Amino acid sequence: MYFSKNIGLRRDWYTDAAFGQQQFTGTNPTTITLAPSRWLEEFTAVAKAQQRADIIKLLTDNADSIYMQDYSYFRSSMGLRPEETIVCDGRYGCASVVLFHLEPEGKLHPLGIVLDYRGSMQESVCIFNRRIASGVSGNEYEDWPWRFAKTCVQVSDWLRHEVTIHLVHTHLVEEVIIVAAYRCFGPNHIVFRLLEPHWSTTLSLNKAARETLVPKIIIGMTGLSASQTYMFLKSAYDDFDWTGLYIPNDLKKRGFPLENLDDPKYHNYGYARNISRMWNIIRKFVSTVLKQEYASDQEVLSDESIATFCEDTRSRDGGQFMSFPDLRTLDELIDFVTMCIHIAAPQHTAVNYLQQYYQTFVPNKPSALHIPLPQSLSELCAYDEQDLLSALPLTKPRDWLLMAQVPYLLSFEVPEESTILHYAETTSSSQATPEIIRAAAEVLETDLRAFIDVVQKNSNELDDQQTPYLVLDPSRTAISILI
Ligand SMILES: [Fe+2]
Repeated sequence: MYFSKNIGLRRDWYTDAAFGQQQFTGTNPTTITLAPSRWLEEFTAVAKAQQRADIIKLLTDNADSIYMQDYSYFRSSMGLRPEETIVCDGRYGCASVVLFHLEPEGKLHPLGIVLDYRGSMQESVCIFNRRIASGVSGNEYEDWPWRFAKTCVQVSDWLRHEVTIHLVHTHLVEEVIIVAAYRCFGPNHIVFRLLEPHWSTTLSLNKAARETLVPKIIIGMTGLSASQTYMFLKSAYDDFDWTGLYIPNDLKKRGFPLENLDDPKYHNYGYARNISRMWNIIRKFVSTVLKQEYASDQEVLSDESIATFCEDTRSRDGGQFMSFPDLRTLDELIDFVTMCIHIAAPQHTAVNYLQQYYQTFVPNKPSALHIPLPQSLSELCAYDEQDLLSALPLTKPRDWLLMAQVPYLLSFEVPEESTILHYAETTSSSQATPEIIRAAAEVLETDLRAFIDVVQKNSNELDDQQTPYLVLDPSRTAISILI
């Protein structure tokens, strides 16, 4: 593991620029969202109390460019009251809220952080950045209170990323689809034939995650007890919004207009620029196949396997997937199949394979803090380097090893024969594949090859040229959830 590059090799790993960019191209680039007026008002009120006229003016003048990561829901999702501390065996968790300004030229600059939201701003510690804009100079290295606050955000995001975005929203959601599909579709049904290649290894891997990774490793790395972890995990499943997370819907809802993603303002959002193109490539492939199989919406509606599948996915005795839609039209069926491939291949790849780079270097993104959080702004403002070091598991080698090595183990390079590009190549030339899939896979292969250059070009256009963003290159994207 010492030979792989990680963010700790960068001299600027702790800066606002590196922190902001991780919301766009890090391990969890999927939840940054436009800040609703409620949060703008709450932060404005605190800025007033802290006499930060510059923050108030910026929030007022740029309301349509203020984005946030909101982890304030954590306590209710794990069954804790606002006044209760997130702690387990000396490891502390937190429920941060962080506000960013997406500057006109595309830098995402952090403005303010609530370290651990306890039901109201009055009960929580909120700190504002001394640097109001990315171009303002300042001693970022020695701004220990602000660095501590950013570390709290990273701890919050560790939990949301690993448990919600990665484990539940890819591994476990896909499993429900796999099991329901095996129950409801015959092996030659066109939907089964389209999806089955994207299920390699997933069920056995998930079994191992349930039996070992979650109970013996993940619980024990965070500030959550076992029962809190399972409650958090279950609420992440209940909250999964199947159609709301279709990439075009999701990006629009989070304040990233699809038609503007190539504008300077959004050029650093590498994940959005790549994943939206990839969604279209997959959808074109799926649509070509299904439009030959089904001549009309009526034919979809009268396909009994599809109706049974939807029922099983939603049923109390089956998937218990309340948000799962009815698949009554050809368009709805195309979106559904696209989503299944999207989750299994590019989405899981985007949130899985960068764990080594960003998390093996523990100070960048620890899974918990090892000291209690400060209870007031004045306490936080007195923090120095030693306080930040004390929050890291420097004297707890087991915690340090787990934080460093689990991400490394989960990030191993995908072998060439397990990539989505290899799938397209072999499918287009395999006699065992139905003719309509074979022909469409030929176009898929061409589209994926062209997309390799797009991924490189998007990476070249990032302001941050120290860490390329190539994870969604189809010659690297895994065909299925296989780790
Ligand atoms: Fe994974």
